[in-house]
Amino acid sequence: MAKMWAGRTAGDTSKLADEFNSSIGFDSRMFKEDITGSIAHAQMLAKQGIIERKEADTLCDELLKILEDISSGKLPIDMDAEDIHMFVEEELTKRVGDVGKKLHTARSRNDQVALDLRMYLMNRVDELCADTKHLIAALTDKAEVYKEAIMPGYTHLQRAQPVMFGHHLLAYAMMLLRDVDRMTDCKRRMNISPIGCCALAGTTYDTDRYFEAEQLGFEGIAMNSLDGVSDRDFVIELLSDIAILMMHLSRLSEEIILWSSWEFGFVELSDAYTTGSSIMPQKKNSDMAELVRGKTGRVYGDLMGALTVLKGLPLAYNKDMQEDKEGVFDAVDTASMSVKIFIGMISTIKVRTENMKKAAQRGFINATDLADYLTKKGMPFRSAYKISGSIVAYCIENGEVLETLPLEKYKEYSDLFEQDLYEDIDLLTCVNKRNSVGGTSVQSIEQQIRFVREKL
Ligand code: ARG
Repeated sequence: MAKMWAGRTAGDTSKLADEFNSSIGFDSRMFKEDITGSIAHAQMLAKQGIIERKEADTLCDELLKILEDISSGKLPIDMDAEDIHMFVEEELTKRVGDVGKKLHTARSRNDQVALDLRMYLMNRVDELCADTKHLIAALTDKAEVYKEAIMPGYTHLQRAQPVMFGHHLLAYAMMLLRDVDRMTDCKRRMNISPIGCCALAGTTYDTDRYFEAEQLGFEGIAMNSLDGVSDRDFVIELLSDIAILMMHLSRLSEEIILWSSWEFGFVELSDAYTTGSSIMPQKKNSDMAELVRGKTGRVYGDLMGALTVLKGLPLAYNKDMQEDKEGVFDAVDTASMSVKIFIGMISTIKVRTENMKKAAQRGFINATDLADYLTKKGMPFRSAYKISGSIVAYCIENGEVLETLPLEKYKEYSDLFEQDLYEDIDLLTCVNKRNSVGGTSVQSIEQQIRFVREKL
């Protein structure tokens, strides 16, 4: 097939090489950005007197029609084209004749692809941030409902101290707030226009890069043309941010999977987000959470792929860089789906507060409070810790719990124990006494909810 760039070479490329070289299969999704960029470019060329105003009008009108035709499905994208940039330019020239060939003046596919990718990813970052904020809102709403639901808080996956389920959910809201913050920050650096860097060295034409960037809504322009065409930091940064976001979702997935097991029985997922087994009739599997956990691995792979492709690449553009797109598109698509799934899963989750409470009552998770009780009565903490440990050991051996162990028994360990100890080791008291800022008390949870909602 004759190439637009045929000139230096006369012989045809092999069919296999064409297939190998082509990126249309994955870069066609940037058709809108490509056309928008070309319209801005034509406008700039006319403003600078590099092409006629009439010619620019013809180019822009037809580019808009091409955009409409692709969007409506009237113009199918030719999968035999080399990439989306070539496809649009070829279609334009087919429609308007020779004037179409003027569009690529003072431009290269190297700055064009860098521009398109930035614009495409900036839009996707906006969507992903908006979705993540919805998820944060869903978590916060649930946290409000369950701000007084006691559950065991864990360290080492051993019951540690009682916390409210709402407090636990808000921990994830905080993580996701940071994710939004990171992606927003990444977008700030992405918001720099590379167009006008041309192939690598700039151009001899009297272009106006600021005008072109401004039309496209960019905040600034790349100040070094070599860097402008070969910078893919924004891809790697976004991939890192998404990898962290997925890591957070994966941790929550793991907890949801544990919580919905028979062993925990803390939550039940809606049927809309679970599957059955083809053989075991009793099963209700948390496949969605498992998939999010699994897909996190895949997103890490996308990040490693991009880092590895860029490593050791000499300046400026190298075809290796075509490999930047599939991974980042996959990561954005995966994260976007995962966040959406989570919004539904969290909003419909049923919480078994009774089971959570029962589990909280059985793990001696008020033993710290028992030690604190003695400390407040004047005993040094280390001694109080030791005595409380011995009482727990006695209870375990004799099938007792701290809440119902008789006062006489307590007195065998220390004279400081009085009737008011029962109040201090009551689970609700234990939780609400943890009223330090960021603690698990109801009051603190309410403060956290206000904090999160203010950020949304
Ligand atoms: N399809 C290419 C990419 O995705 C476009 C840039 C090609 N430039 C070039 N000089 N071959 O990176």
